[in-house]
Amino acid sequence: MKSVYHLHLTDDQIEGAKIALLPGDPARVEKIAKTAPLERARFLASKREFTTWLSYIGQTPVLTTSTGIGGPSTAIAVEELAQLGVRLFIRVGTTGAIQPSINIGDVVITTGAVRLEGASTHYAPLEYPAVADYEIVRALLRAAQMLGIPHHVGITCSSDTFYPGQERYDTFSGHVPRHLRGSLEEWRRLNVLNYEMEAATLFVICSALGLRAGCVAGVAAQRTRSESVALDQLQMSEENAIRVATKAVEMLVALAAEK
Ligand code: URA
Repeated sequence: MKSVYHLHLTDDQIEGAKIALLPGDPARVEKIAKTAPLERARFLASKREFTTWLSYIGQTPVLTTSTGIGGPSTAIAVEELAQLGVRLFIRVGTTGAIQPSINIGDVVITTGAVRLEGASTHYAPLEYPAVADYEIVRALLRAAQMLGIPHHVGITCSSDTFYPGQERYDTFSGHVPRHLRGSLEEWRRLNVLNYEMEAATLFVICSALGLRAGCVAGVAAQRTRSESVALDQLQMSEENAIRVATKAVEMLVALAAEK
């Protein structure tokens, strides 16, 4: 029996699951695990920021594990889930859009991520790309289309910090270090769609280790208009990302059955 330290899980507990959905927030895990087509949801473990539930799509076990916020804890979650046998990961997150045409509640499906973080450099040098698995991108896109959820597909900026790295001035000091001032506008001009905090780490680790990863995030802030998260619409943003991710998993499970 294999057990992993931080997730407080064993391989027999996960019943052969090869797929994991990865929200950041432990409070979102149960909700995702109980979203159709996921069924028979069951709590497995909770330690620190890592909460895990197991559900099924037909006969296929699917885990939902929270990563906590940012690269370092995401790296632990992915590393330990991989040790237990998981091979396909889909991050289900929230995000701040930096293109004016993207609205609160839309979802962003990430094809590749700017590595404005540090954890991924412990797995591969900065020259190495942070890219999603193309079949997962295709499934997420198809899911959003089928569900009629407004979506955008492209490049994400993954930042280690929510405040200076995403050029927020409404902070304790009000100061953004010089090398990050103007960075939002720079990424926007380079056609980056959004900010979040985990995709790059997830993608680099998965590519480097021969695993597969994707990311869908609900837009919770529109950064060309405001620095704030739109709390009144946060639930809708989260739900749209969850619906797209769970539908995509259903399609990937069906695809695997055909092979
Ligand atoms: N998550 C982020 O990292 N940034 C935002 O603006 C919203 C959610």
